[in-house]
Amino acid sequence: MGPIKYELIKTCKQTGARLGRVTTPHGSFETPIFMPVGTLATVKTMSPEDLHSMNAHIILSNTYHLWLRPGEDIIDEAGGLHSFMNWDGSILTDSGGFQVFSLSDMREIEEEGVHFRNHLNGEKLFLSPEKAMQIQNKLGSDIMMAFDECPPYPASYDYMKKSVERTSRWAERCLKAHQRQDVQGLFGIVQGGEYEELRKQSAKDLISLDFPGYAIGGLSVGEPIDVMNRVLEFTTPLLPANKARYLMGVGSPGSLIDGSIRGIDMFDCVLPTRIARNGTCMTSTGRLVVRNAKYARDFRPIDENCDCHVCKNYSRAYIRHLVKCNETFGFRLTSYHNLYFLLNLMKQVREAIKNDRLGDFKEAFFEQYGLNKP
Ligand code: GUN
Ligand code: ZN
Repeated sequence: MGPIKYELIKTCKQTGARLGRVTTPHGSFETPIFMPVGTLATVKTMSPEDLHSMNAHIILSNTYHLWLRPGEDIIDEAGGLHSFMNWDGSILTDSGGFQVFSLSDMREIEEEGVHFRNHLNGEKLFLSPEKAMQIQNKLGSDIMMAFDECPPYPASYDYMKKSVERTSRWAERCLKAHQRQDVQGLFGIVQGGEYEELRKQSAKDLISLDFPGYAIGGLSVGEPIDVMNRVLEFTTPLLPANKARYLMGVGSPGSLIDGSIRGIDMFDCVLPTRIARNGTCMTSTGRLVVRNAKYARDFRPIDENCDCHVCKNYSRAYIRHLVKCNETFGFRLTSYHNLYFLLNLMKQVREAIKNDRLGDFKEAFFEQYGLNKP
């Protein structure tokens, strides 16, 4: 038995969504869950205490960024990423596969790995399945991700087929190169774009390697929402029911609900923290741009239906003032509220699954949030 366990608790009779429990060497949490993103070993402006107080159990960090700065050796010397950043909850690290494609120009993919330029200083770099495993082994994350290619949308069938086949060969090399199988779990990443046949091929290849969990990659890369939902509809049923399923890079409120309904257990996205830093908040009635002039004298909380620390203690007017003055504390407040909002949304999703009424919950939430309007 490996270090990552998934137990299916129940499925929602109304939607088929899964309530489950994931256990890692750093604790256990109910799913579906949202993972805040801490790219550079910090969830921007949030302390580990803040994260605990909002009931975050697992955060995501990035191999690519930590490899460049401060370097995996320094983190290894600190005793690993948990001890380096003082976070005792679970950590998942992405492999660098996606970041190489999204951040750096001038990349060249070959069988061995990817040549590209450091997005900070232009220096030539090379990342391979073996290197991505070596770095993640030093970081000591609970869940490591296989090194994959995340092709752009749209990509031709022929390109995608070659890419999926290479990602499968890379996944096998990742498994062989993974040195700490007793304390770190490695998830495979299903690719294949919008092509059902290729998703099938990718899932089959990866399942034969028997990973302790499977991610669905290559989504939220510019495709319409209904394409993503359709891909999830034919992809999650291909995955083993006794393993966790993680939808990479997805975290808008609507897609968290839509993904859960299609059998996804784990999500991550920079959205809540990124929009927080330009003064945009998620609320039960949709997005609120707190910078707007109309909030200058609005002494109500960001979200009158939210019971987070920020909404209990600070007003729209005050937060607007801080954000407009570029005061760090303002971004801290909006970030806290947005993360709390998504974590709390997932708590409500889990509760709805327990009661076999996620379909009703979705309908009410979409109506209130202003989604699905013609
Ligand atoms: N983050 C969002 N999408 C992807 C993906 O397809 N692959 C990886 N490695 N990370 C991602
Ligand atoms: Zn709040």
